[in-house]
Amino acid sequence: MRLNVAIDGPVGAGKSTVADAVAAHLGILHLDTGAMYRALGLTALRRGIDTQDEQAIVDLCRGLNISVSHEEDGQHTFVEGEDVTGLIRTPEVSMAASTVSRYAEVRKAMVKLQQKLAAETDMLLDGRDICTTVLPNATAKIYLTAAAEERAQRRWLEMQQKGMPDTFEEVLQAVKDRDNQDMNRKVEPLRQAEDAVLVDSTNMTFDEVVDAILAIVEEKRHG
Ligand code: DC
Repeated sequence: MRLNVAIDGPVGAGKSTVADAVAAHLGILHLDTGAMYRALGLTALRRGIDTQDEQAIVDLCRGLNISVSHEEDGQHTFVEGEDVTGLIRTPEVSMAASTVSRYAEVRKAMVKLQQKLAAETDMLLDGRDICTTVLPNATAKIYLTAAAEERAQRRWLEMQQKGMPDTFEEVLQAVKDRDNQDMNRKVEPLRQAEDAVLVDSTNMTFDEVVDAILAIVEEKRHG
């Protein structure tokens, strides 16, 4: 039977790095679905298309070839064959991704692509709507969260290491703005699926979070 693990959660809950580690332990691929919305957001910014203009973004999305590959160093994300992996982690692209992800037609296209990839091979997907929409029948479903201040603190430390100048207050505000937009959008807002297991990582170490998720997967797989 296909092994599909679904992890949802808000900005900065550590989904990406935790998901990488869990997938490696399980020997399966990790699909970072946020990277696809980021690829679309980046392209809108580059082409000067207003991310608030739903019709323009839907038109852009329709004609755009977004794809991913899994390499030794993790997932690479492509737009029209160009590797944009190194360009999609800026605060501007984060907010653009969050904005374009509000549109139903955009979500439909991304969900379809994600479901196709997950059907082809054993895979762990992380995002906002994986448990609720993309993989409602996943083997295990997890909602990974942490207090907003803790998530902002982690993100700020990461940004400092990369030499980015943003202050903690700015990062906290950006986390709250994106939470607000992701949780209150009309189409498939971020929420914990009824049958997803809650993991609150506020007072947990990275290894504890990985172990907790692996235990949930084992339990669901073998009961
Ligand atoms: O996980 P991330 O921060 O890379 O995601 C960027 C944005 O994309 C996020 O603010 C909301 C959107 N997103 C989504 O709506 N659904 C997903 N499955 C993944 C991301």
